[in-house]
Amino acid sequence: MLAVKKTCPNPTGLSSTAILTFLLLITGCDRSSRQSVRSPDGNITIEFSLKNGIPYYSTNYKSNQIVSASRLGFHFKTRNPLEDNLQILSVQRSQFDETWTQPWGEVKDIRNHYNEMKIFLQEKDYPNRRMNLIFRAFDDGIGFRYELPEQENLTDFQITDELTEFNFTGDHRCWWIGAYQWNRYEFLYNETRLSEIDTVHTPFTMATGDGLYLSLHEAALTDYSSMALASYEGTKLTCDLYPWSDGTKVKARTPLVSPWRTLQIAEKPGDLITSYLILNLNEPCKIEDTSWIRPQKYVGIWWEMHLGKATWGSGKHHGATTENTKKYIDFAAKYGFDGVLVEGWNTGWDGDWVKDGSIFNFTKPHPDYDIDQVTRYAKSKVIEIIGHHETGADVLNYEKQMDDAFTYCKKYGINTIKTGYVGHGQTVRRIDENGNIQKEWHHGQYMVRHYRKVVETAAKYHIMLDVHEPIKDTGIRRTWPNMMTREGARGMEYNAWSPDGGNPPNYMTILPFTRLLSGPMDFTPGIVDLFYEEYKPNNRVNATLAKMLAYYVIIYSPLHMAADLPENYEKQLEAFQFIRDVPVDWEETRVLNAEIGEYLTIVRKDRNSDDWYLGSITNEKERVLKIKLDFLDTGKAYIAEIYEDAADADWESNPLAIKIHQKTPLSSRSSLNIIMAPGGGTAIRFTPMTKEDWDEYNYNGPVKEFHHPDPTILVEEYLKRDAAGDFMRNNPWKNSAMMYPIQPGWDSATLISGYKTSTIQVDSVQSRFNVTYHIIARIGQNMKGPYLIFEPEEKTVPFVLKNTTWGWRIAEPNQHMHILPKVIFDRLADEDQQKLKVYLEQKQLAQLLE
Ligand code: NOJ
Repeated sequence: MLAVKKTCPNPTGLSSTAILTFLLLITGCDRSSRQSVRSPDGNITIEFSLKNGIPYYSTNYKSNQIVSASRLGFHFKTRNPLEDNLQILSVQRSQFDETWTQPWGEVKDIRNHYNEMKIFLQEKDYPNRRMNLIFRAFDDGIGFRYELPEQENLTDFQITDELTEFNFTGDHRCWWIGAYQWNRYEFLYNETRLSEIDTVHTPFTMATGDGLYLSLHEAALTDYSSMALASYEGTKLTCDLYPWSDGTKVKARTPLVSPWRTLQIAEKPGDLITSYLILNLNEPCKIEDTSWIRPQKYVGIWWEMHLGKATWGSGKHHGATTENTKKYIDFAAKYGFDGVLVEGWNTGWDGDWVKDGSIFNFTKPHPDYDIDQVTRYAKSKVIEIIGHHETGADVLNYEKQMDDAFTYCKKYGINTIKTGYVGHGQTVRRIDENGNIQKEWHHGQYMVRHYRKVVETAAKYHIMLDVHEPIKDTGIRRTWPNMMTREGARGMEYNAWSPDGGNPPNYMTILPFTRLLSGPMDFTPGIVDLFYEEYKPNNRVNATLAKMLAYYVIIYSPLHMAADLPENYEKQLEAFQFIRDVPVDWEETRVLNAEIGEYLTIVRKDRNSDDWYLGSITNEKERVLKIKLDFLDTGKAYIAEIYEDAADADWESNPLAIKIHQKTPLSSRSSLNIIMAPGGGTAIRFTPMTKEDWDEYNYNGPVKEFHHPDPTILVEEYLKRDAAGDFMRNNPWKNSAMMYPIQPGWDSATLISGYKTSTIQVDSVQSRFNVTYHIIARIGQNMKGPYLIFEPEEKTVPFVLKNTTWGWRIAEPNQHMHILPKVIFDRLADEDQQKLKVYLEQKQLAQLLE
């Protein structure tokens, strides 16, 4: 549906596209100096105003002002600024609502729903330059950009400053890394007040005093310099563009559109993670046939170099030999991986390549790496080699070789390349117009252009990219989905060699709310041998093994590495199973709970099966997070494979202690206590139950039943009242209340419904159904010994039992439900046994103890 109503000349010639599901354009002559646009749900308002010819915008969420009047405009080299003396020519409004499908991603379908307001401005006096401002209000935030249309009095120009301000109304808590640092984006995050920051990178995330979460970033960084944020006064931030070596910020000509300046706004921190505003502000896919673009899981010759066991350069410890690569190929094939990354395969590594990348050759393998043999061998095992192009940030050298290098890769069936730009500070060589060498930042326009050129060239060759030392992600994977993943933060490698001891336990509880908001990250997770004293006595992984597994769900990446050495996985096959199973392409992503710097639980549904996966992590604090499994399909039974911290696990003292529950039946009605050790985590795979699973759980032994004298409370009756009855009626047991041998790790709420869960948190035992049950009991089903479950009607029970061997006990008064295995009854103190007997007799339940 397209309706265009023009009431005065439209200065833009805006075109429509076929994919719009709804677009309404109204170009109006209302030139009053205040104009506003609201998000579709009405919660967010952007107001534009012109005061004495100076343009400002502000933003409200509900009744709160988040950004107060903030300036807009440009300064140019050798031209007057475009910042005042402006008038509104016209205002154009439109609505847009479209759902588009990602070829791969953290979610399959994304709704792009916004209201737009475009303000056409012109200088009142000569040279009467024109500048348009486009504002989009989404339900999850705002985006705005500048448009400098083609015009006689503004052709070629150099921007020396973009004046955009973000005038925040509170001194928010914020998480940030500093800009203009030697090590690009690879720093630990700082947490301070907004007024305490200096110059920072985006995504820049804040928590306001009144419970909102904000993240400032940019979208569609195409041919411009990247935006840092500078703080000069109070809580006002200013766009600070990375400069060229000559001090200018952007070299451009009209027509020009700037990247979008974005502010995501959420009531819960987790909603920042499931906001797709950045992607929505990028152009639709430019690659017609995307069938060659495939998410992958890979292993590789990588960690051994970071540990110092092998070298990138030649010599007797050279990692990328034919023989070693074949070992990895065998390993990848045996355990179901897609690819093998080979670093150090080419020449150029033997000098100081960080200082001088000019000797890297991307078509010349080391003599001990027979690329022909290796790639033929890989092909025979249905494994693809992932190529590696470390450039040492010498992009002149790389661009010179790029076409040959890509042709060379394709010749050997290499369809994915990891690129690298190691180089510190403002050191990227450029040859200027006069033939002189200049030094550039990784984040200025020169490099933005380079990174984009590589993506577009790679697309031509059908090559997927994994970029290390990249430009930050601004969502261009929507347009160029061969731009799979990138680094752009401290990854796993810091745990191998960082003098500061590596990434601390809270690191991954911050990253998903900062760097990871921008897009996928090749973190290279999956280290299962957490200590490597032999190679790096002063380093280790500062997390538990279960947390390492959870990273595969917490961090989204369409290329995920299992980064450890094959021999280490062979020693941890049970835990490794999760890494083998976990997919890298998702239908859906949900955040179940989150607090920045504290904890996070994410569930994702596999795009190619009915499986769900859960990852939950905590910082250095142990914690119990109660979650509902209502994301699972209703009426379907699932088997959960749970990888959790063992009771005595601790990231510092006992990180390898993991408990793996092989097959735990659960349903969407179940709830689960996620119990995490200090620095720990939990990873779970949920798979719909098969007939075989059911059979395994069926009990064929003698069944002893007990029915309470009151016939209204037969088991069946109970099931009808129980929400979980749906589940029970749909399984082969039909109307039977299943009970399992009680183990530490199950909670009563799920036990009574027939499913066990992973919890040992006795104190939190309580019914997830907020009802008072009648007493029901059934004994001897599918278990090794007699157990009983009972639920008194009264909320207060006449006894309290403590210190039982398994940690189970009759709960404190005011809990609905109590579970007591006979085996535990036997271990109770005499006095407690006596109390219980009396109680059961009163309830005519004494025979339950027989
Ligand atoms: C840094 C990258 O992050 C890492 O993955 C790679 O192994 C080295 N550079 C060498 O290219």
